[in-house]
Amino acid sequence: NNLELQPMIDAHDLLKKFYHHLLVNTKEGQEAYDYLLNRGFSKEVIDKFEIGYSLNSWEFVKKFLAKRGFHPEIMDQAGLLVKKNETNEYFDRFRNRIMFPIHDHHGHVVAFSGRVLGNEQPKYLNSPETKLFNKSKLLYNFHQARVHIRKYQEAVLFEGFADVISAVESGVPNSIATMGTSLTEEQVKVLKRNVSDVIICYDSDQAGREATMRAAKILTKAGSKVKVAVIPDGLDPDDYIKKYGSEKFKQDVIGASVTLMSFKMQYYRKGKNLQDEGDRLKYIEEILKEIAVLESPVEQEMYVKQLSAEFSLSIEVLKDQLSRTERKSQ
Ligand code: GTP
Ligand code: MN
Ligand code: MN
Ligand code: MN
Ligand code: MN
Repeated sequence: NNLELQPMIDAHDLLKKFYHHLLVNTKEGQEAYDYLLNRGFSKEVIDKFEIGYSLNSWEFVKKFLAKRGFHPEIMDQAGLLVKKNETNEYFDRFRNRIMFPIHDHHGHVVAFSGRVLGNEQPKYLNSPETKLFNKSKLLYNFHQARVHIRKYQEAVLFEGFADVISAVESGVPNSIATMGTSLTEEQVKVLKRNVSDVIICYDSDQAGREATMRAAKILTKAGSKVKVAVIPDGLDPDDYIKKYGSEKFKQDVIGASVTLMSFKMQYYRKGKNLQDEGDRLKYIEEILKEIAVLESPVEQEMYVKQLSAEFSLSIEVLKDQLSRTERKSQ
């Protein structure tokens, strides 16, 4: 390893262990530990994900690292300390937060995300981009999930840390997440090297549904096969698991994941009244556009037939419309 990067990796490793110790063994970490236990995370899963707690202090980490010979400038570059404006003073980046270590795909901790215990903003504070941490390349939990992803020949993609942790605890070990950003082409490249089938399981809100459409587009473009696991009632996967339990999550959500087209049909139906002529025409147009970009003629035929049956339109008319749509989108 690079001479410059090794101290950064060592510092993250040391801090990860110390944050975890603070959470599970100290009075200072008690409130954070209780918060996690009250949210329904088990002690085992808190250990497995090496979750920790950062003290409510401006210079605890600074002193902790200095005592062990780490240079503050390098720790600033690593994202663990922050430099005060135009001085040579540094202070701790993460204070009074629940600390989620973020591992690279080899299993080294290269960043942290810290969650507030209450409702303050920002809810999550991430390490900045550093020489170790490239947010757009990493997938959370990929280092642990990879072997299961290969075994099941399927990956399950979530929005948040809490969703991944709950899913793993429920017995879905092939779970990964992006880190507060949209799925990128780089992340998809990493996935594609390991697996072709991806289930997207995002939050059940408008933002989550739109993010599902975007992620699906990038995955499909890279040649992955996408299914969507739909969470009901405006919940997110973690909320759902805590409310309905692991078995229901595995059977009624993951096990019942739908094809991408069927998700898109649900998506375009939202907010429309298909009894209304205008809405109905708009819906058919939107679905034809989606059919037009499908690679497989067999799939195209299948969905055209489905539309034809649902809206009592002849297959010929739909196909004619489809070829116009195809010409337009070229
Ligand atoms: P919990 O409230 O702990 O269950 O979080 P959540 O994962 O449900 O959060 P949410 O659905 O709001 O956001 C999904 C993901 O986006 C989180 O896991 C974070 O990775 C990221 N995220 C959320 N809020 C913030 C924020 O304030 N700042 C940053 N940088 N990322 C955020
Ligand atoms: Mn432990
Ligand atoms: Mn969300
Ligand atoms: Mn969420
Ligand atoms: Mn949540």
